[in-house]
Amino acid sequence: MHRWLLLACCLLILYWLLYYWYRFRSGKEISTVGRTKTVPAFGAQVKSLSFAFASCQRWDEGFYTAYKHMAQEELDLVFHLGDYIYENKIGPTGGVRNVSLPPVHNNQTVTLSQYRLRYSLHKTDPDLQAAHVNFPWVVSSDDHEVENNYADDISEYGVSLEDFLAQRAAVYQAFYENLPLRSTSIPNGPDMLLYRKLTYGNLAQFNVLDTRQYRDDQIKTITPTEETMDPNRTMLGQEQERWLLNNLGNSTVTWNVLAQQIIMAQADHDSGPNMIIGNDLWDGYAGARKRLFSEIKERKVKNLVVLTGDAHRNFAAELKENFDDPDSATIGTEFLGTSITSGKDGVDMDSLGMAWLAANPHMKFHNSQRGYVSCNLTNERWLTDFRVVPYVTKPGAPISTRASFVVENNRPGLQEA
Ligand SMILES: [Fe+2]
Repeated sequence: MHRWLLLACCLLILYWLLYYWYRFRSGKEISTVGRTKTVPAFGAQVKSLSFAFASCQRWDEGFYTAYKHMAQEELDLVFHLGDYIYENKIGPTGGVRNVSLPPVHNNQTVTLSQYRLRYSLHKTDPDLQAAHVNFPWVVSSDDHEVENNYADDISEYGVSLEDFLAQRAAVYQAFYENLPLRSTSIPNGPDMLLYRKLTYGNLAQFNVLDTRQYRDDQIKTITPTEETMDPNRTMLGQEQERWLLNNLGNSTVTWNVLAQQIIMAQADHDSGPNMIIGNDLWDGYAGARKRLFSEIKERKVKNLVVLTGDAHRNFAAELKENFDDPDSATIGTEFLGTSITSGKDGVDMDSLGMAWLAANPHMKFHNSQRGYVSCNLTNERWLTDFRVVPYVTKPGAPISTRASFVVENNRPGLQEA
């Protein structure tokens, strides 16, 4: 009996030593105790890593049940790929949440106080809190933290340059105040350095990308044009692209990961002979993508895996040197993770999903429900589980794994698990 007690005590001490424990104090308020851990030492031999990635959590479109389930997983890390908040007005009943909200929320966010209020509203959610309490997070920003489909200093809504830069300064200040970021990301007026690298021992290198602040404006088109193919246009900006290629070229880890926002694989929306693209996605910057892929191929980057959000859908896809030729080289793998709530309940399959699967042979799976994606990495293989909930417009949904895929070390492409 005493031996068991001793063993239990040892395990408890080990558990406490595995993590850092922290809390915040402000005036008389003391926060819940949070738990976190640091990455292994540079070059350390790491046997495995488990992480989840999530995106798109429009507060008034659903309950954060997916986070409740995520918080119960054994994870080392959580990535958030953007759309942590949305800029839209939130009405007096809080959308599907059916609560009573004061009119101050019923404004599109523009000022610093509005953004601060918007983050604080999100952070009242107990399921989101649980996911923050249990794991360290690596966050990035997509468009809705600012406004839909903005490009660099160009507003989609026609806001003047001066006003838009003031808005961006407010956005980044509130973002930095509310989310865990390095001091290198302290905002400088309307600019914030968000692209950064995180190395996980000998196992993985994560390049967290910023696909908003440095991109050229979208081409107003729904079909590929000479302009979308123009190699002089940029998604990442020259400096970030050079930084990324340097990281990938010098990498000695097993898995080379891009944690980024928008769909990188070709996503033809038309199941027939025509091609319809999303001009905000990498397809709208196909010339820049081609340049990136050829540089990646030249550097012989192994085991490239791209993590993506924004689309409110799940897919698993192979990144092809030439998407129009299924026999061309596979440059890497892309896992698109669905939204936590944006788009409300969703369905397993819809017409766009069917069109994508029909028109894009490099896409191997599609699902349009809500949830998040869990990944487990070893030096031998990468395992991805698409975790989905059947509804978000009321609380209490169960979670299940809709599909699982494996990528094997040194074998580009997807294997069904
Ligand atoms: Fe979104």
